[in-house]
Formats: sequence, structure tokens, C-alpha cells
Amino acid sequence: MPPTHDLLIRDADVIDGSGAPRFRADVAVAGERIAAVLRHDVHDARARAALRGALEIDALGRVLAPGFIDVHTHDDTALIAQPAMAMKASQGVTTVICGNCGASAAPVLRPEVASDLLSLIVRDPSHAAPDFASFAAKVEAARPALNAAFLIGHSTLRASVMGDDLARPATDDEIERMRTLLDACLAQGAIGMSSGLFYPPAAAATADEVARVAEPLGRWGGLYTAHMRDEGDAVLAAMDETFGIGRRAGAAVVVSHHKCAGRANFGRMRETLPRMDAARAAQPVAFDVYPYTASSTILRPEMIDRAERVLVTWSDRVDGVAGRDLAQIAAEWGVDAHEAARRLQPAGAIYFTMDEADVQAALAHPAAMVGSDGLPFDAHPHPRLWGTFPRVLGHYCRGLRLFPLEDAVHRMTGLSASTFGLADRGFLRPGLFADLCLFDPETVLDRADFADPCQPATGIDTVIVNGRPVWRGGAPTGERPGRVLRRTGPRRDAPAPG
Ligand code: ZN
Ligand code: CU
Repeated sequence: MPPTHDLLIRDADVIDGSGAPRFRADVAVAGERIAAVLRHDVHDARARAALRGALEIDALGRVLAPGFIDVHTHDDTALIAQPAMAMKASQGVTTVICGNCGASAAPVLRPEVASDLLSLIVRDPSHAAPDFASFAAKVEAARPALNAAFLIGHSTLRASVMGDDLARPATDDEIERMRTLLDACLAQGAIGMSSGLFYPPAAAATADEVARVAEPLGRWGGLYTAHMRDEGDAVLAAMDETFGIGRRAGAAVVVSHHKCAGRANFGRMRETLPRMDAARAAQPVAFDVYPYTASSTILRPEMIDRAERVLVTWSDRVDGVAGRDLAQIAAEWGVDAHEAARRLQPAGAIYFTMDEADVQAALAHPAAMVGSDGLPFDAHPHPRLWGTFPRVLGHYCRGLRLFPLEDAVHRMTGLSASTFGLADRGFLRPGLFADLCLFDPETVLDRADFADPCQPATGIDTVIVNGRPVWRGGAPTGERPGRVLRRTGPRRDAPAPG
């Protein structure tokens, strides 16, 4: 019998991304979309036998879920430089949201304005672009394996308009120019704006500046994501500032990598999560979180003191230090940690600054989505780059029973697609795009750790993007069917399918 479909996955335990209980089904894919989902409790064996796939996968004992959406990434130009995207495909990720924390690779109008923040995401200046349309064209020309949607960074807008003169609030004229740039990028399909008020390029910006720049978000239905001004002692004030900016812009808010940093703030999820709930009663608010008690960013002196331990992830000044403890390097040099950090600059680091109980409380909150915040160009990256999604599934869900598997998958798929307005993705239903992850719920687990961070997870069997397998049997397939996902039309409503 000739095949009726391009791909048929038989006897899978389907978790559809909505949070609903799993069911046994055969799933057929035609072209780039899911053509049929034949539930075994509805369709008998004869009806199912009539389906034939050009490629058939026996999925007995494994879970078939929508492909995971990594809602917090810095993969903007990694999509161009490393188009196989193995660090994410190996986790079951099929879509990455880029441009977080205030830094995006477009619109870069003054490439000579170098900032440490932008250097985290742009290593080759030719991968940045002066407008979103030409940046998206560069990504498409690279044919990445995964889909990607893009936020526009407020710090990138600042550098493009204000040059090096960033240690002050923007003037009315500069705000107007940033707003015009953002508006043009949204018209070209960017999905929203991010800010990083914690970092020097934007630390001098007032809430009023950000809200006025963000004003086109309301018009286009774009969202606002925030690496907040403070994630430590002043976290509650920073949350209120973030919510206020979202309200003024008329935009849904996503608080990035929500955490309570520093020993003095351990346990304060008891305050921040109720604050999140109170805001959610009045406006759309969600947040992302990664499943680790250590953060990672550029090496900043003021972050050293509140960390229990600091690991160096890269240094452009000193060779051979990536992966080493800052305290050990300082001891070898006979200096204190601050002086060692100064000598390593520019550099990146991992900071152990969070409470495990806080991380679990955040992960289990109904508004929490999973986002890796991985840094793709670090020499010795935080293990979240390769481990985030399997760690939630294997360690937090199966091991610690923090939530049912259906709930864990929902936080990586349906909830994420609904929040970020990704049409026809995030759920496993006929007619939607065939972004799929087949995994073994008994063995899925991260293997990346702080000592050896670039290891693919176990238990991720097959990862499918737009109907084509990109990861199979522990390796990339060489297929690169990813797309740039552009926001289309001013739709403010975009209800979750189901
Ligand atoms: Zn951030
Ligand atoms: Cu980030």
C-alpha cells in the first residue's frame, strides 16, 4: 500500500500541550503540518492500519509532545553561526525566542558602539543588521534547524540612537527616535520589546523612558519582557516598575528569569509570587524561569559579593580560565576576587545566588514558563544552555514530582505559544504545524553539568520541526527546516487554542 502521509508516529502517548491528560494515539504528518491524530480509544485498529507513512516511527512507551519553546534565549545570531542549533534541538526545543534582556541583533545602527551586553549575543558583527527585515533575511539565509521569533532590545535601541552616551536618561527626541525604530521593527514582524534595566547600557533609563519607547507594543499587540532593574533586595519595587511599564504600553508583560538573588533574599518567592498574582488579576503577566540555582552573565564586580561561588565562563583577556573558580584564580594570583575579575575583563561568569526552594516555587507557579537563558557563545557555558528542558522533565518532574508531566510540558509548549502569540504552534492538534518532540519519560534527563556543560541530554528520541526530523538517535539529522516566526497583524486577542 502506498503511504498516505509523509510521517506516521504509531502508538505514542500524546501529551498535547494544553495540560490535559495524555492519551494513546497514532499521529500522521503531511508536509509541514499535523494531518491526523487517531486516538486509540476512538479509532479502532483497522482504521489506524489504513494509515501509512513514508517514514514510520514506533513510539510505544514514549511520549509525543509539541516541540518545546525556549522562551528566553540569546540565540539571535547563533541561528546564523550554528544553524544546526544542537544545544537546543538535543533538548526537544523546536522554537527559540530571541532578543531578551534588552539586547537584540537588530536594529544595530551604530555597530561601533560595543557593549559587553551586546557581545553576549553578537560575536560576528556581520550578523547584526540595521533593521529587523534585513536581520530576519540573514537568519533565513542561514537556514537554521529551529524556528525563531524575535524581540527588539531596548538597550540595542539606546545604543543605536544615543551612541556611547548611555549613562543618562534619553531625551524626548531620542525617545521619539527609539519609538520610531521599534515601530518599524514590529511592522516587519518582531514580536515585542525586551529591556535590561539591570545592565549599564540601560541602567540610567527611567521607567517613563521605557514606557514611552514601548508605546507601539500596544498598537501591534507586541509583548514586553523585562530583565528587571533589580532581582535582589529591591525586587518588589522592580516588579512594580515592570508592571507599570506594561500597563502604560498596553502590552502583556513577561518577567524574565524570575529569581530572588542573594542569601539575604532566600525565601522571598513568598513575597514575589503573590505580587505576581496580584498583578495578574489586573493585567496580563507571566514569567520565565530556568531550573538552576546559579545565574550567568557577564563578569560584574557588584555581583561577586552576593554569590556563594563564582565560575568563570569566558575571558577575552586571559586564556585557560574558562570553567575555573574565580576564588582559585584570585588565590593563585595573590589578589582578591574583585581584582581578579578586573584582570579578566571582558569576561563572563556563573554566580551561585539562589535558593533551591525558591527555584521550585517559581517553576511550579501557574504563570511560569520554561526558558533556558543559555549563552551560546560562552567558552564554558552555564549548563542551562544544553540541559534546561530535560532537567525540568527528568529532575524536577520525574525525580522530585514537582508537577505532573502534562503540566511540565504545558509550561514548555501551549502556555508559551499562547503567551508569545505564536499561532498554530505549542499544541499537538490536527492542522497545526508539526513541531514535535518524542521522548522517553522514564529516562529523559539532562547530562550537562557545571563541570562538563556541553553534553546532550538522554531520553530525547526524535525532534521534528515543520514536519521534518532535525534530531534523531542522539545526533542532528542535517535537516534545517526552521522559520522566522513573524508577528502577523495587530491581533490583541489571540486566545489559546482550547
Ligand atoms: Zn537577563
Ligand atoms: Cu537573558
